[in-house]
Amino acid sequence: MPARVLYVCLGNICRSPMAEGVLAARAAEAGIEIVVDSAGTSDWHVGDMPDPRAIEAAAVRGIDISEQRARQVQSTDFRAFDLILAMDERNLAKLQRLAPKGARARLRLAHPDGREVPDPYYGGPDGFVAVLDMLEEVAADVLRNLKTRE
Ligand code: 4NP
Repeated sequence: MPARVLYVCLGNICRSPMAEGVLAARAAEAGIEIVVDSAGTSDWHVGDMPDPRAIEAAAVRGIDISEQRARQVQSTDFRAFDLILAMDERNLAKLQRLAPKGARARLRLAHPDGREVPDPYYGGPDGFVAVLDMLEEVAADVLRNLKTRE
């Protein structure tokens, strides 16, 4: 069965949709089967498209995230996914509070260095490019870990 990875940020319109797009694209290029999804800890943008700045930054790398729609994390996600990756400490703490007892998913910060992926929402387009670069590192780490587990 393919590994199932869920990325989580606050709104599910900036960081986690870009993370989903990057990992899906890099896995496909590497011929690795994987299930990737994303969600937000808030319900603020449920049903919304990704932020136009996120769509544009991803498109520059040939990644189309425009079909994604925001959703909120659910308790069933802790059964449905193997790995849940939070963008920052705030969202990690929220997930830890939501996690049902005995949940199967592993839960940690997304970046392998333990750095937070900063919220680009209130900044300019450069912030989205910097976040995408971090998310490439995250995706590479996820794929490396999958390979070593085989
Ligand atoms: P995200 O960014 O968590 O990366 O999707 C944000 C999107 C929206 C808001 C904050 C962060 N907001 O305040 O609406």
